[in-house]
Amino acid sequence: MRHFLNLSDAGPDGIAAMLADALDRKAARAGWPRGRADADAPLAGHVLACVFEKNSTRTRVSFDMAIRQLGGTSIVMDAGTTQLGRGETVADTARILSGYCDAIMIRTDDHIKVEEMAAYANVPVINGLTDASHPCQIIADLLTIVEAGKALPGLKVAWLGDGNNVLASIMEAAGLMQFDVTAACPRGFQPSDADVALGKGRARVVADPAEAVAGSDVVVTDSWISMGQLHADTKLKALMPYQVTSQLMTCAKPDAVFLHCLPAHRGEEVAAEVIDGPQSLIWAEAANRLHAQKSVLRWCFGQIG
Ligand code: CP
Ligand code: NVA
Repeated sequence: MRHFLNLSDAGPDGIAAMLADALDRKAARAGWPRGRADADAPLAGHVLACVFEKNSTRTRVSFDMAIRQLGGTSIVMDAGTTQLGRGETVADTARILSGYCDAIMIRTDDHIKVEEMAAYANVPVINGLTDASHPCQIIADLLTIVEAGKALPGLKVAWLGDGNNVLASIMEAAGLMQFDVTAACPRGFQPSDADVALGKGRARVVADPAEAVAGSDVVVTDSWISMGQLHADTKLKALMPYQVTSQLMTCAKPDAVFLHCLPAHRGEEVAAEVIDGPQSLIWAEAANRLHAQKSVLRWCFGQIG
């Protein structure tokens, strides 16, 4: 049974297999209508249950479309309209969904819940974001970076802003795929030591935004207020010097690219001229969620890696 709760579940070989598969499959259906299944329909007859305890646009639609393009179907649920929302346990929900569906994708708050889902499900479980990590996002990010012609080993990634779940997964990816990530985060909003340790010596935290961005190939940021967090003015004030501005981008390599998992808040974590400017790959990154999810699903079913 292959669960995808964090990037380490797939490891370097699994991640490399996902990226290669995503590139191949994306090229094979270029120009096709989105709703047409891939020619080989490798997951025909499979049903993916998607459970959301938090809002989502990209993860929701890209997983739904991913399983359809692989020949299967989906059932997408807001947890609040299920018995999970009335206190039925994650363990019981896992057993029930396993009886109807072939895989489960869940977006939730406490990471323990995805681990519990995996422990009690007898089908693959995929982490669609928790407070701790967002591995599916990072597969799409790595795909976007590789498509931009940048090799992962030795790459220099700069993260600006909040030390959050997306940063934790980028740090984990750095350790697995041999690139360096330098995060500039203000005191009080830095990643935990455990998250930095996921980088296996390739992740570090600094206070100075220019130091993080200096000589980088990729500049990344995310919302300062993640889902489930209070919209605190003190946090916004502390993070303001970490906004990705065009002036800050001049510290990166001239061919550096900008990534953001979205949703974005122009004028907070990133200036409009950067996110809507020529170095930004955000639309390719978002579109790549679809191609990445397909390869995550195929990895979970043992078809690749
Ligand atoms: N990036 C991302 O996960 O977007 P959604 O919250 O819209 O799914
Ligand atoms: N860090 C953000 C990512 C959203 C895709 C959050 O958890 O809300």
